[in-house]
Amino acid sequence: MIPPMRPVIVAGNWKMHTTPADAAELARTMEARTRVPGVTRVLCPPFVCLAPVRDALAGQNVGVGAQDVHHHLGGAFTGDISAPMLRDLATWVIVGHSERRRYHHETNEMVAEKVARAIENGLRPILCVGEELEVREEGAHVAEALVADQVMDALQPTTGEALATSGLVIAYEPIWAIGTGRNASGADAAAMAQAIRRAVDAASGDSIGLRGADTPVLYGGSVTGANIDQFFAEAEIDGALVGGASLKPDEMAAIVARAGLTAAARGLAPARS
Ligand code: PGA
Repeated sequence: MIPPMRPVIVAGNWKMHTTPADAAELARTMEARTRVPGVTRVLCPPFVCLAPVRDALAGQNVGVGAQDVHHHLGGAFTGDISAPMLRDLATWVIVGHSERRRYHHETNEMVAEKVARAIENGLRPILCVGEELEVREEGAHVAEALVADQVMDALQPTTGEALATSGLVIAYEPIWAIGTGRNASGADAAAMAQAIRRAVDAASGDSIGLRGADTPVLYGGSVTGANIDQFFAEAEIDGALVGGASLKPDEMAAIVARAGLTAAARGLAPARS
């Protein structure tokens, strides 16, 4: 069954690309090329580009997201950025991206604290989870168990109503697919999305918490205009977290156009008059 109420989301993760001098123009180009009814669009530039991108997108229907947030609210953490600092700059934040986990040694516990700080400060987290290639090679059920643990650990401090109303989105990003040109199959991503939703339900338990069925799950990892169709063909997949292709207007235009078909099928796009 297609869940009609889950939004269709395409988020672009610009990673360590663009400068304050050129980010605004790219944001304006992306906005103009991706005007598709019913699709929630989010751009996540580097911290130093948040203000110009926010200003460039003022009055447009595009969310601005940070790529990370510190797990403390403030203190002696040179070079880090806390959730209160982001409040006027962003409404979304990517948390637990595999590049942060790998290069900055972020643990599930830190990711959980980041989710909590984001939600407390009104930022909508895009929680990233995903397995290494060796885990995938041990079998789908091994990968699903690991990802389910990542989800449960990340949500553990924030169960309850705060989580249910947080707008949390989960992005399944198999590490072996990120920036490699090698993507998961739509069917594998859909099976993982089901495992993620079961984990959300398990994390919430009997409390008034977030429900898996209500949680948008995105796929990320070498998404392009050429391969996006197989993900949106799966009812379990609600969108994409796009890295490399999010810097290319033609690619983003194709990805968001395909997202629009799913949005229309779900009744999210207003009927043309
Ligand atoms: P990619 O990155 O699309 O370049 O593989 C995805 C991501 O890291 O979010």
